[in-house]
Amino acid sequence: MKRMKIRRKAILLACPMMLLVSYAAASVAGGGATAIEELGEFIFDDKDLSINRNQACVSCHDADWGGTGPDSIINGAGAVYEGSIPGRFGDRKPPSSAYATPSPIFHFSKRGEGQFVGGNFWDGRATGERLGNPAADQAQGPFLNPVEQALPDAACVVYRVSMASYAPLYEKVWGDNIASIAFPSDTDSLCGQEGVTIPLSPEDRAKVELEYDNIALAIAAYEDSPEVNRFSSRFDAQRCGETKLTKQEWRGFKLFQGKGKCADCHVSSGRNPVFTDFTYDNLGVPMNPENPAFIADPAFVDLGLGGFLMRRGEPSAVYEPELGKMKVPTLRNVDMRPTPDSVKAYTHNGYFKTLKGVVHFYNTRDVKDRCPGPYTEAEALAADCWPEPEVAENVNTDELGDLGLTDEEEDAIVAFLKTLTDDEHEEDEDCGHEKGRHEACDD
Ligand code: HEC
Ligand code: HEC
Repeated sequence: MKRMKIRRKAILLACPMMLLVSYAAASVAGGGATAIEELGEFIFDDKDLSINRNQACVSCHDADWGGTGPDSIINGAGAVYEGSIPGRFGDRKPPSSAYATPSPIFHFSKRGEGQFVGGNFWDGRATGERLGNPAADQAQGPFLNPVEQALPDAACVVYRVSMASYAPLYEKVWGDNIASIAFPSDTDSLCGQEGVTIPLSPEDRAKVELEYDNIALAIAAYEDSPEVNRFSSRFDAQRCGETKLTKQEWRGFKLFQGKGKCADCHVSSGRNPVFTDFTYDNLGVPMNPENPAFIADPAFVDLGLGGFLMRRGEPSAVYEPELGKMKVPTLRNVDMRPTPDSVKAYTHNGYFKTLKGVVHFYNTRDVKDRCPGPYTEAEALAADCWPEPEVAENVNTDELGDLGLTDEEEDAIVAFLKTLTDDEHEEDEDCGHEKGRHEACDD
């Protein structure tokens, strides 16, 4: 984090940045990161905002790992991170928390045959309908999620922020309303217990709700900042004419846009592309046999977008075509890792551990034999087979499964994916930013 702070100053000198209109009111601490972005970073990094004071957003979304989980052993197996309460697990791999803010508000687009677009989470359930931005809606989830930070009441998050070392910055951004909330004297101990509701007057409860929204907006402002969305990869530098890709990387880029069909979903053109169109697809990814949810219940399947729509009460005609579909993730920083031997996990359940494995799957899913059981990626590659999809419905057979790529072509695509890692070095920072911030994608 220290290194990032130094870097940020460099960015700020180099490029005066635009503010999101909705955040402008609460902005600007001198020419640098806005106060709200800085506040958001403090909250993102604050382990006190979990029931056992042992987990922050950054615990599962580490910048040095491309905004994903920072543990090779976990990534190499189930890829699901334990929550603040020991032994508690969710069922999905953390996607990147960077490049998440450009996702539009979740909606049904009538374009083409019609499809759902936008939102945050693998299944889109942080729609953005509440706070006007999916990332802000998303940020209200983890603090109270019993398998994540697990605080029993939003009032606990607000209380602990009000007691934090950065509380003065909070008041500078959002005013001192937070200091006027009459929290009971035993709030501290109540917040360490599950299932508790902090007793508050209706007025104070209303204030808590407002401040809880403000906390989420601060996190979203940080996630939307140039510090997080740096657009400083070799791919970006190449677009500015500052560097050249190697022959292999360039070949990979051409395959990514052409024969590999990757850019159909992971958009690679336009201004500051984030390598997703924010739509949903079922690639037929196999179940990860090491997913704690699968170990606890071998009948577990992740229904993705369709599951969310079903729980939201949509009719079967709406949710059935979406069963098993997951949001197209950004590919920026997909290879970023602190050391070359750090293990990452890919796709919603972390089934894949290697980019080569992912690309080989796109290439050969429908060509190879079915594995006789729920093999891991390594077992499947060794046995030259692929397991059955986690969700058999709605598997995309138009754009993947039998791409006819050679081994060298697969390698070239992997080499290209590695050019999407943001650069830590100051001198390359301005390139992406000079082109300005991303624009929200309106399908
Ligand atoms: C225990 C690990 C864990 C913690 C702690 C955690 N996350 Fe996540 N995060 C995940 C997982 C897993 C997902 C995917 C969940 C899903 O799709 O249902 C996710 C999804 C996200 C996404 C969605 C990205 C996208 O493109 O859809 C964002 C943004 C995010 N988290 C930010 C945060 C913030 C902000 C916090 C702190 C308030 C936080 N996370 C805390 C594991 C974690
Ligand atoms: C039809 C849309 C589509 C196409 C075409 C496509 N992808 Fe994807 N990609 C997705 C979706 C959806 C996911 C997430 C699937 C899941 O989690 O089950 C994904 C996941 C990935 C991931 C994992 C990222 C992560 O952070 O977990 C990589 C890497 C990737 N794709 C690369 C590629 C490459 C390379 C190509 C071309 C060979 C390609 N994709 C073609 C939709 C697509």
